[in-house]
Amino acid sequence: MNEKLINNLFNGVNDRVPIWFLRQAGRHIPEYYDIRKKEKDFISFCLNKDLIIESTKLPLKYYDLDAAIIFSDILMIPWAMDRNVRFNKNFGPLLDPMIPGETIIKKNVSVREKFEPLYKSILSLRNDLPKSKSLIGFAGAPWTLACYMIEGKGSKDFINTRKALWSHFNWFMELIETLSSYVAEKLEIQAKAGADLLMVFDSWSNMIPNNYFDVCAINPIAYIIKNLRSKNIQVPIIGFPFKVGSSIVKYSYETQIDCIALDWTVDLNWANNNINKNIAIQGNLDPASLIPINSTHLKKNVLSILEIMKDRRLIFNVGHGLTPECKIDNVKTVIDIVRNHKG
Ligand code: CP3
Repeated sequence: MNEKLINNLFNGVNDRVPIWFLRQAGRHIPEYYDIRKKEKDFISFCLNKDLIIESTKLPLKYYDLDAAIIFSDILMIPWAMDRNVRFNKNFGPLLDPMIPGETIIKKNVSVREKFEPLYKSILSLRNDLPKSKSLIGFAGAPWTLACYMIEGKGSKDFINTRKALWSHFNWFMELIETLSSYVAEKLEIQAKAGADLLMVFDSWSNMIPNNYFDVCAINPIAYIIKNLRSKNIQVPIIGFPFKVGSSIVKYSYETQIDCIALDWTVDLNWANNNINKNIAIQGNLDPASLIPINSTHLKKNVLSILEIMKDRRLIFNVGHGLTPECKIDNVKTVIDIVRNHKG
């Protein structure tokens, strides 16, 4: 039997709740800044094999976790498509915005070549990491990548992206299809290099107009999963449709996903009753609960998640990424509670 706690969950062994954290490798660990300083910009950092390895392992130095997530960024696909991706210190990501209707690059992006450092770092990490730890590969979902590529930056409402959907529907679908094939390819190389699980982040799926949810959120994920399975990639796949409300039920039945990551607003009792029972759940502690020094209801909340999910396969996690303000001691407290919990 596989020794990895998270992978065991998908092999029918379910005696302990595994735990890891979204954005566990980032800026809440002071040492991250020392590693980050070794490259001039964030893209170069994400292309430096040694630094990818070092930052992927960093959280395991601090915490007793069941997984490491490969250090990269969802915007590396737009970068590979020559969208001039850069990260400004106080502004977040910037890209050259796509003009609706403009020609979409089709076949000339060699994902395998562009992600050589990522591939090599996974090969090396899979040898390095203890056998009990799962290594997670990931990508952004096509819709979320399209949001950044059209808007050219983060946004509170992604109005230009939504406008493009209404004005240039066929073009938009062509973009989603092109992105879907790149996402599938990026996930494929990560699995082939040794990733034990894959995760697809749809961080802006809450922006999709409801009548387009199928074509923007469900079909692309279904296509990606089918594509990977047809290439005999059998690792479990986690989907993260962020803040989509009851649409998550449809997503759970129609994508063939193995696990759904829930954001912190989801009512777990409702989720447990409505989400396809064959699917594992990941989540969904509010990462803000890890910021205050005396987070009063932290323990109660962690126990409540464990209690509600006691009859279901659960990967304990936060409902969105850890922010730079999250306290290391709070993260440790959560891990202790989960480890000591007798289900
Ligand atoms: O611990 C990990 O999970 C590390 C790997 C990782 C990063 N980004 C590193 C990163 C992962 C899984 C991501 C995913 C990601 N990137 C998402 C999906 C998850 C989510 O938060 O919804 C999104 C939307 C992005 C895009 C992105 N990358 C933004 C908006 C920003 C800037 C603002 C921010 O939240 O940090 C980034 C930069 C980024 N990606 C940093 C890190 C550690 C910070 C870069 C730095 O200044 O050093």
